[in-house]
Amino acid sequence: MTQALDTQTAIAVIGAGAMGSGIAQVAAQAGHKVYLHDQREGAAEAGRAGVAKQLQRRVDKGKLEQQTFDAIVGRIHPVSALSEIADSGLVIEAIVEDLEIKRTLLADLEELCNEETILATNTSSISVTALGAKLRHPERLVGMHFFNPAPLMALVEVVKGLATDNAVAEIVHATATNWGKKPVFATSTPGFIVNRVARPFYAESLRLLQEGAADPATLDAILREAGNFRMGPFELTDLIGHDVNYAVTNSVFNSYYQDTRFLPSLIQKELVEAGRLGRKSGQGFYRYTEDSERPEP
Ligand code: NAI
Repeated sequence: MTQALDTQTAIAVIGAGAMGSGIAQVAAQAGHKVYLHDQREGAAEAGRAGVAKQLQRRVDKGKLEQQTFDAIVGRIHPVSALSEIADSGLVIEAIVEDLEIKRTLLADLEELCNEETILATNTSSISVTALGAKLRHPERLVGMHFFNPAPLMALVEVVKGLATDNAVAEIVHATATNWGKKPVFATSTPGFIVNRVARPFYAESLRLLQEGAADPATLDAILREAGNFRMGPFELTDLIGHDVNYAVTNSVFNSYYQDTRFLPSLIQKELVEAGRLGRKSGQGFYRYTEDSERPEP
């Protein structure tokens, strides 16, 4: 049976945005030392502070002991130089959804880390095969696709590119299981499983909005209450971030030779151009104050 990485293995997370911070929390909760790096100055510290803020709520509610809180937060190490992560056994990149930028980072990581280090990408939609194509050892690259928010969502897609070594995918699968997740294997088709299925959900909702069927709050409420979805499409894409979601839609659209089923929406393009990225920028379809649990119209 494949062994999961043990807790003596240091994990590195590159990109300390919404996903990277959440993944760092998951790995730290599982007992690993976690390096957190972001190219933006102060972002890794802010990522750790965000994790501490989330966990503090659980301490306040009596659901987490102070000692456990201290241990988890203490295991997350923001690092300003990428070279500081060199002794990691698994590096998970969660940077911007862009093929060339991710490729450049992965090439740098390959130079830095030793040959046994597993490289994982949290990409939502970019081909793992394409991401690995310029590596000297593409067999050690695998998709490890978490969902937002990473500490709460159980599913992890373990995505095999054409060159991915099965043993590497098995180790990542076993490790995700140890981290309390429910991993599934997927191949490197555009959008993998969930983002492929989710595209028409967002696209049709945006078309309904464009046609003036109802406002976002009404459409969200209908899907929550009648459709039994946990979140409607507009509050969900506000949570994901419109920059991320728009990049994913474009990536899936282009990967399927511009099949109009996956046509990106001008509404989403406008939101991105206006900087209304959703929760993270304070406004998307809804407005958000710092501690708002639910969107405010
Ligand atoms: P984000 O915009 O919140 O964070 C990205 C972070 O990466 C930023 O802090 C940025 O400064 C940093 N960054 C960019 N280029 C970098 C580089 N070359 N080196 C180091 N740091 C760099 O984005 P988010 O939402 O965390 O997404 C990150 C990745 O995770 C993307 O590939 C996205 O498709 C994927 N993803 C996003 C989900 C979501 O719901 N937002 C869900 C699952 C996957």
